[in-house]
Amino acid sequence: MDSLLIKGGVPLHGEVTISGAKNAVLPILAATLLTPEECVIRNVPDLSDVKFMGKILESLGAEVALDGDTMTVKSGRLKGVGDYELIRKMRGSICILGPLLARLHKAKVSLPGGCVIGARPVDLHLKGLKALGAKIKIESGYVTATAPKLIGGDIFLGGRVGPTVLGTANIMMAATLAEGITIIESAACEPEVVDLAEFLNAMGARIHGAGGPTITITGVKELHGAQHAVIPDRIEAATFAIVAAVTKGEVTLNNVRAEHLQAVLDKLRDAGVKWERRGTSLLVKGARRLKPVDVTTLPYPGFPTDVQAQMMVLMALAPGISIITERIFEARFMHVPELGRLGAEISVEGPSAIVKGGAPLSGAPVMASDLRASAALVIAGLVAKGTTQVHRIYHLDRGYEKIDEKLRALGARVERVPGE
Ligand code: EPZ
Repeated sequence: MDSLLIKGGVPLHGEVTISGAKNAVLPILAATLLTPEECVIRNVPDLSDVKFMGKILESLGAEVALDGDTMTVKSGRLKGVGDYELIRKMRGSICILGPLLARLHKAKVSLPGGCVIGARPVDLHLKGLKALGAKIKIESGYVTATAPKLIGGDIFLGGRVGPTVLGTANIMMAATLAEGITIIESAACEPEVVDLAEFLNAMGARIHGAGGPTITITGVKELHGAQHAVIPDRIEAATFAIVAAVTKGEVTLNNVRAEHLQAVLDKLRDAGVKWERRGTSLLVKGARRLKPVDVTTLPYPGFPTDVQAQMMVLMALAPGISIITERIFEARFMHVPELGRLGAEISVEGPSAIVKGGAPLSGAPVMASDLRASAALVIAGLVAKGTTQVHRIYHLDRGYEKIDEKLRALGARVERVPGE
């Protein structure tokens, strides 16, 4: 397994281009199952999760071709079942359930297990599909959904901690081919849901209200092929903004939708980080002295849980006490003990981490555990004195396109060490 060797202490300067959004492209690729016609998806990031989704679509019978950042999918003749070894390995694959059910009236996917950030239940996905008339069966780790016909209905999709992003995507996709009108209440408002809705409407769906808590879908008979360019990845953008901030550098992020980053930019400003929006670019300047800030992760437009770990590194460098409270996933503090190995002083009290910021960080070997925790360890390594080796960076490659190349282009001393 590859690792990253990082020599810290270099302020990063230059420009970086943000890639297409992982969490938009995965449901959009699943949506191509809704039509037998060809779909062309552009600005597709080069990520292992995307390649995985392509293989899952192929295992279902779709023709998939990737040319640079353009993925073409033609789901002419579909099999009802896919490659479960593949499907089981990627939690995001749950979002093929809705489109497959709508297209084939039957779908079988493996239940996503838990992962290091917490349980990943799908009860809300299943509640929504049942509300559309599906029969759901769960046995030996798989969920099978059958529905000779999907009938539109009113569905409240709010869960114990708020909306579900992929749950909203699944139900929205299934409802496009249901008979009648579906109203989703307490829908997720993330930009990735809006991007999916725009692609579905380009395919001939009739969706209104995406981006807000109530989405109305008027079912149609069939959908046709379409082209779509995926939105930029707001989480990658937030990650690089924090890299600029903590290394006290000056970085211009290109291909950014700053309006998708308001909660993060607001907190960065509170922490003393200077940033300036320039059209679809964002200039970020490190602060001479960072200030402690308190953060609570919330559904969009609140502070994103996917930036919690990265923000914790910034708080570990801000002299004073910062409190970060994780309200979306119950176990998303795997990065805390690893940051501790680099000298950060953080203690976890239930859903909150108390960060005693200001202690200098020094390099050490650390272990990546999940995608965003790995990003936090890389950010910490860029600042720590000496050398940090981040092991198991396959986690990183799932969600960050060529992150070592992008960091080196900004002056970072980062080297990918082939797997031991
Ligand atoms: C999406 O996951 C993202 N993944 C996650 O990003 C992101 O952290 C998450 O949304 C929240 O923003 C993709 O889009 C591929 P949820 P998703 O359903 O949809 C509970 C990353 O790092 N819940 O919005 O699976 C759930 O346990 C990844 O890029 C239920 O209770 O997340 C969690 O506490 C990590 N029942 C909360 O809702 C359900 O049926 C939010 O989960 C579904 C979810």
